[in-house]
Amino acid sequence: MTGKEVREKFLKFFKGAPRSHVEISPAPLVLENDPTTLFTSSGMQPLVLFLMGESHPNGKRLVDSQPSLRTTDIDEVGDNRHLTFLEMLGNWSLGDYFKKEQLPWFYEFLTKELELDKEKIWVSVFEGNEQVPRDEESAEIWRSLGITEERIHYYGVEKNWWSRSGTPEQMPVGEIGGPDSEVFYDFGKELGLHDVFLDRGNPCHPNCECGRFLEIGNSVFMQYKKVGDGKLEELPQRNVDFGGGLERLTAATINNPDVFATDLFKGLIELVGKNTHKDYDSNMSDFRVIADHVRAAVFLADLGITPSNKEHGYVLRRLIRRACVKLRQLKGNLNNNDFSDLVGETYKIFSGVYLNSGVKNTLTIIEEEVDKFIKTLDRGLKELGKLEQIDARVAFNLYQSYGFPLEITKELAEEKGQKLDLEKFKKEFDKHKDLSRTTSAGVFKGGLADHSPEVVKLHTATHLLLTSLREVLGEHVVQKGQNITKERSRFDFPNPEKLTDDQLQKVENFINGIINKDLPIKFEVMPKDQALATGAIHAFNEKYTDTVKIYYVGEELDDAISREFCGGPHVTHTGEIGSVKIKKQEKIGSGIIRLYIILNNSEFIS
Ligand code: ALA
Repeated sequence: MTGKEVREKFLKFFKGAPRSHVEISPAPLVLENDPTTLFTSSGMQPLVLFLMGESHPNGKRLVDSQPSLRTTDIDEVGDNRHLTFLEMLGNWSLGDYFKKEQLPWFYEFLTKELELDKEKIWVSVFEGNEQVPRDEESAEIWRSLGITEERIHYYGVEKNWWSRSGTPEQMPVGEIGGPDSEVFYDFGKELGLHDVFLDRGNPCHPNCECGRFLEIGNSVFMQYKKVGDGKLEELPQRNVDFGGGLERLTAATINNPDVFATDLFKGLIELVGKNTHKDYDSNMSDFRVIADHVRAAVFLADLGITPSNKEHGYVLRRLIRRACVKLRQLKGNLNNNDFSDLVGETYKIFSGVYLNSGVKNTLTIIEEEVDKFIKTLDRGLKELGKLEQIDARVAFNLYQSYGFPLEITKELAEEKGQKLDLEKFKKEFDKHKDLSRTTSAGVFKGGLADHSPEVVKLHTATHLLLTSLREVLGEHVVQKGQNITKERSRFDFPNPEKLTDDQLQKVENFINGIINKDLPIKFEVMPKDQALATGAIHAFNEKYTDTVKIYYVGEELDDAISREFCGGPHVTHTGEIGSVKIKKQEKIGSGIIRLYIILNNSEFIS
């Protein structure tokens, strides 16, 4: 089957009676109202609030296909299954049906709609721990569906627990999660490399890394919230959060464990072959990195993101440059138009589904970055040409000064018969951790929000900053960008000139005035149109989901001093912030001003 067929079948199956789900539009790939998360990385991310008990305007049964980006997987791309950009098919029960509906429905979808071979379906369930019982109920349901005992496996929290931040122990207080039941497709012993793999001597099992099994769907029984003392508390409702990778489900339908063999990638893989005169079978990993990274880069550039050294732009830069390194290795050289047909093909694959802006803009963004990278390569190669000895320090310095890729330094060293000490490179790297990466580290995990008290206070303070700027400067002030770390909040907005000292003081006083009043912070959840009608401020140029949350400062929404589209979290009363200081002002572009605020008199680290 094609990816399009699988996507359509899934949505239709869950929308149809008796399942009767409502299809919701996917959230934007870049979330607008969560300053601590870079990308949407799973279907549940925009639904957290509703899994926690808020009522969703579209009801208790929802279905969608969610474009997702997982930067955590970037180094794993190259095998037959890992991707940075993926589409996640999802269905949710928000305190409605539970295991005995979910598991048979998904099984029916796999076997009747996708016509997968029943005998090749294996499953896993949670083995239980001190706080959460062994999931015998799911195992029993699987048995009743005809899954034989040898195909039902029990695992612990490492494999059969899901939350955005990992195991119960890793979950921060406030995070939600639950045990899950995964489904795997068995591509046959002969496809796996079990006997030549590390696990030799141990029997193969669904989570074995030998390549025989592919996880094609995960039903999370989202039931718990982390509270203090490492304990889990039951949520007010029992939810189902199902996610299945479209690429993997499609791979199962063609009985090939390689997601790059599906029609979602085939055109891209063929083009890489055509352009490099190399064949896929001998260069699988490089072909896959190029195809995956181009696809992800196209989705980001299509949103108008441009390569930079920070945040979303940094991820885009990394994707493009990694694809460049691989393409150059295969082709022997690199030209700025090398990606044009790959970009065109990506638009063709997703035409009418997701991509909006048009291939021309995207291509310009990507080609400009390739150009820059070619210059970086030239400079680095020149430096390297002068050297007799290429060692880890040289490799690191080139990386640090020009962003020159380690892979290429390594290759050149090898040409000279020298070997780079990668351990030493890593040590240097850790020592001088690139500032742009450390500041973004918290948000690179994908979905893991930093809910530390400092970040939460600064988050509320940032709302007060926007309100105060509008009060002092006028209503042309909107949010053009924000970034919050434990140390400070950074806020960008349009204004023709830098603020005068007097204006800065007024803004600061206004914020601290609101803090001193100790006003409550409350929120309401409502459909987007209704939210827009309240006059709440929303970030400039952002896309929003169908249902949004508005945070306001004051007793009532109508006469609140601040009203903003936002995912939270916030302090409950402004007094908790203590006080705020504007620490630094910059003009970062024509007509854009950047302010940094800190809490009380904490140390300022930009
Ligand atoms: N939220 C679960 C996942 O992303 C379904 O795997």
